[in-house]
Amino acid sequence: MNTKAELVFFAKWLRAPFRVASVTPSGARLARAMAAGLPDGEGLVIELGGGTGPVTQALLEAGVAPADLLVIERDRHFHRLLSQRFPGISVLLGDAFDLESLVEARGKRDSVRAIVSGLPMVPMGAKDQLRILRQALALTGGRGPFVQFSYGLASPIKPSVKADLGLSSRCVAQVWRNVPPARVWVYERDPATDH
Ligand SMILES: C[S@@+](CC[C@H](N)C(=O)[O-])C[C@H]1O[C@@H](n2cnc3c(N)ncnc32)[C@H](O)[C@@H]1O
Repeated sequence: MNTKAELVFFAKWLRAPFRVASVTPSGARLARAMAAGLPDGEGLVIELGGGTGPVTQALLEAGVAPADLLVIERDRHFHRLLSQRFPGISVLLGDAFDLESLVEARGKRDSVRAIVSGLPMVPMGAKDQLRILRQALALTGGRGPFVQFSYGLASPIKPSVKADLGLSSRCVAQVWRNVPPARVWVYERDPATDH
């Protein structure tokens, strides 16, 4: 990540702290830990909230083929930056709350291997978390995984949301050498669970 991108990120945070939710892009260690949360296998990997692209870069470096990567970013400036930085991948300007319709509008019916999220989940209410996770589960055959980073100690997905959806959570990485230190969480559901 170069200094210019960090400054742009910081300026965005100053203007809309709850939309961007971090003063700086994720560091390479955190981005690699997010990519390591992916299951083996085939299918589309969807990244929500790509920002300036550190997680996108790590997903590509971890072997996700550019054709199998779809990034959804709501901010126009970040969307343009991502499109220029990663010309070989699909970067959609859109809102993660419209996840299913954005994916369906592409026309192709891909199987989805995982959803990887840099969205600011902690400030969201349970209703909004449910809206996003329900769509993520629908796209992944009811199972997940949904990979999310967070700066706090506790799960960024609320216990009530996990209970409503029958999700289990695992903290798969603690990245001390990130600013600020962060944890990576993986949420999954046993598809046999009736929800
Ligand atoms: C904490 S930043 C993470 C950026 C990047 N993934 C990283 O790790 O540095 C959150 C990103 O999510 C985007 N975002 C926030 N809410 C969104 C939404 N509802 N739909 C799509 N993108 C959103 C913001 O514009 C920002 O780029």
